[in-house]
Amino acid sequence: MEQRALWVTYLLIILTLANEMSSAVQARDNTKRRTKEKGGFQKNICDITDRDSKVHCYCENTREPRNATKAECWVFNGGIPRDDLIWQSFASQPTLQTLSFNVRVDGALGYVPTKALQYLQRLRSINIKYGNIVDVAPFALANLTNLKEVSLSQNQIETLQQYAFAYLPNLTVINLEDNMILEIGKDSFFDLPKLQKLTLTKNNITTISNGAFQHAFNLLELDLNKNSIFHLNRHTFDGLANLRKLDLRKNRIYNLTEFTFAELWNLQELLLGKNEIKYISARAFDGLSQLRKLSLDDNKLAVIPSGLFEGVRGLSALDLRSNELHALTFDNIKPILDNLKPLNSNLLLEENNFVCDCRLKWMHSLRNETKSQSTKDSLDGVTCKMDTPIVSSAYNKMSDDTKINYSLEILHTSATVEVVDKFNTTDRKLDENESSEGKKGVKRNVLKIPAETLPCPKETMTTTESPPFIVDPVIPIQNEMKTFRFHEMNSAERVSLTSILVMSVSFIFFNT
Ligand SMILES: *[C@@H]1O[C@H](CO)[C@@H](O)[C@H](O)[C@H]1NC(C)=O
Ligand SMILES: *[C@@H]1O[C@H](CO)[C@@H](O)[C@H](O)[C@H]1NC(C)=O
Ligand SMILES: *[C@@H]1O[C@H](CO)[C@@H](O)[C@H](O)[C@H]1NC(C)=O
Ligand SMILES: *[C@@H]1O[C@H](CO)[C@@H](O)[C@H](O)[C@H]1NC(C)=O
Ligand SMILES: *[C@@H]1O[C@H](CO)[C@@H](O)[C@H](O)[C@H]1NC(C)=O
Ligand SMILES: *[C@@H]1O[C@H](CO)[C@@H](O)[C@H](O)[C@H]1NC(C)=O
Ligand SMILES: *[C@@H]1O[C@H](CO)[C@@H](O)[C@H](O)[C@H]1NC(C)=O
Ligand SMILES: *[C@@H]1O[C@H](CO)[C@@H](O)[C@H](O)[C@H]1NC(C)=O
Ligand SMILES: *[C@@H]1O[C@H](CO)[C@@H](O)[C@H](O)[C@H]1NC(C)=O
Repeated sequence: MEQRALWVTYLLIILTLANEMSSAVQARDNTKRRTKEKGGFQKNICDITDRDSKVHCYCENTREPRNATKAECWVFNGGIPRDDLIWQSFASQPTLQTLSFNVRVDGALGYVPTKALQYLQRLRSINIKYGNIVDVAPFALANLTNLKEVSLSQNQIETLQQYAFAYLPNLTVINLEDNMILEIGKDSFFDLPKLQKLTLTKNNITTISNGAFQHAFNLLELDLNKNSIFHLNRHTFDGLANLRKLDLRKNRIYNLTEFTFAELWNLQELLLGKNEIKYISARAFDGLSQLRKLSLDDNKLAVIPSGLFEGVRGLSALDLRSNELHALTFDNIKPILDNLKPLNSNLLLEENNFVCDCRLKWMHSLRNETKSQSTKDSLDGVTCKMDTPIVSSAYNKMSDDTKINYSLEILHTSATVEVVDKFNTTDRKLDENESSEGKKGVKRNVLKIPAETLPCPKETMTTTESPPFIVDPVIPIQNEMKTFRFHEMNSAERVSLTSILVMSVSFIFFNT
């Protein structure tokens, strides 16, 4: 067996060698013939036989000069000068409509070959991949009037110079995905009247100049997913009155200020998931009258400012999963509540820090009324905890010393402290029942708690359907509190510590 395998290998090597030799001879012949024919440097780019050439193209339609419409080129060896004669050879196929460069060796193509493109006046699509293009120079695409699509994904672009993409009257799509672009300057995209889709996903963008996209006023889709953008203002998206979809997921936005999207009158989809949004202006979404879909999942929102959804009354899909919300009131949701009932609507709320109280009552009726299965499923999965924001009020009134001791004690006992005095006595019974089962501080499904037994803080007793949301000034401790779970395994010692703690908290509470 082994001997046979050896033979096969041997044969294969011989065959390969023979093949290499014959093609080398052939290549030499061809080069000779061509040099004779042309008497110079200009080769047919679709028929390069010179093995040392740094660029080789395969043309689909024909190998004859002046007739190919599609060329796929490979760049093998690095360091081609910008004015290398090879680029002039593209003049041999002026009817090319589709051209792509696959760069095979790292560092083999460090610029957009404008010198080649300028001969290709009929070009509609250009695609360069795996190069090490660090910057895109002004007019890199040679003002090609018929160009429709440009893809420069997976290069190493850091800078888009002024007029990098300019005077391209038919350009519809630009794809710059997976580069290292650091910022979007003012005139990098200039005079692009037909640009509809701009993809900047997976770059290192931190800043966008005001009005950076204003010369691409017909843009329909702008994709800025997976960057490091942390600040947006009311001029960032100036001029984008036609935009339909804006993707800003996976950035570092933490403060959404007022009128940020005010220019985007036609926006239908706004994706802000996986940012660090903690602060949000009540007027952040003002102007988005056409918005249908808004995602704010995986952020750090603890509070939804009242009136936030007043400006987006057409909203029918809202994702607020994985935030730190402790309430979402009827008042918050009222402007869009009716949109959340049809079959195709969608409201997602799981993984928050909701407190079990009557501000969540509306979830029961929405669960009943919505026709959307995903909304039903999501509501079924919404959980809340019985500990209350009231605790933080009590905490707020302690002296600083006590605060420290208090927090330390909680840390050591892993207990959830409950101060129920502000609650109606009927509601307190529920708490006691829960505590006797050792469930205090445990997450519960909102919908499994009968709506009428959801406790109401005293402040909100007068109204049942749309209680005003009392913003508690001391949110930090509340979040701290939530991380301490009640353990059934608590030792007797710990349990007694807990009761001391409860007592002292009540004491402080009653004395203030
Ligand atoms: C070039 O292509 C056209 C049609 O695509 C064809 O009629 C013509 O014969 C071709 N010319 C050569 C030299 O191959
Ligand atoms: C493109 O057009 C601009 C403005 O007309 C001009 O300044 C620039 O030289 C042109 N670039 C090329 C490569 O044709
Ligand atoms: C856009 O492309 C079409 C067809 O490819 C062409 O007829 C037209 O002249 C181009 N527009 C401009 C402004 O050059
Ligand atoms: C771009 O971001 C990636 C990942 O976030 C990082 O590894 C890389 O160093 C950044 N490059 C530059 C030029 O900032
Ligand atoms: C958020 O941005 C607004 C407007 O720039 C500013 O007034 C506010 O102080 C910022 N908030 C935080 C917490 O940074
Ligand atoms: C849900 O619907 C049922 C029957 O349609 C009704 O009896 C019940 O009161 C409703 N519950 C809520 C919370 O609206
Ligand atoms: C907090 O604890 C420290 C020692 O752990 C003690 O000296 C201090 O008096 C305590 N403060 C209060 C207000 O109990
Ligand atoms: C407590 O709430 C119940 C209904 O939930 C109500 O009937 C009762 O009057 C309330 N009691 C007080 C003291 O507010
Ligand atoms: C107490 O718990 C039991 C068992 O889970 C339940 O049947 C009962 O309704 C609860 N009582 C209150 C007041 O929630």
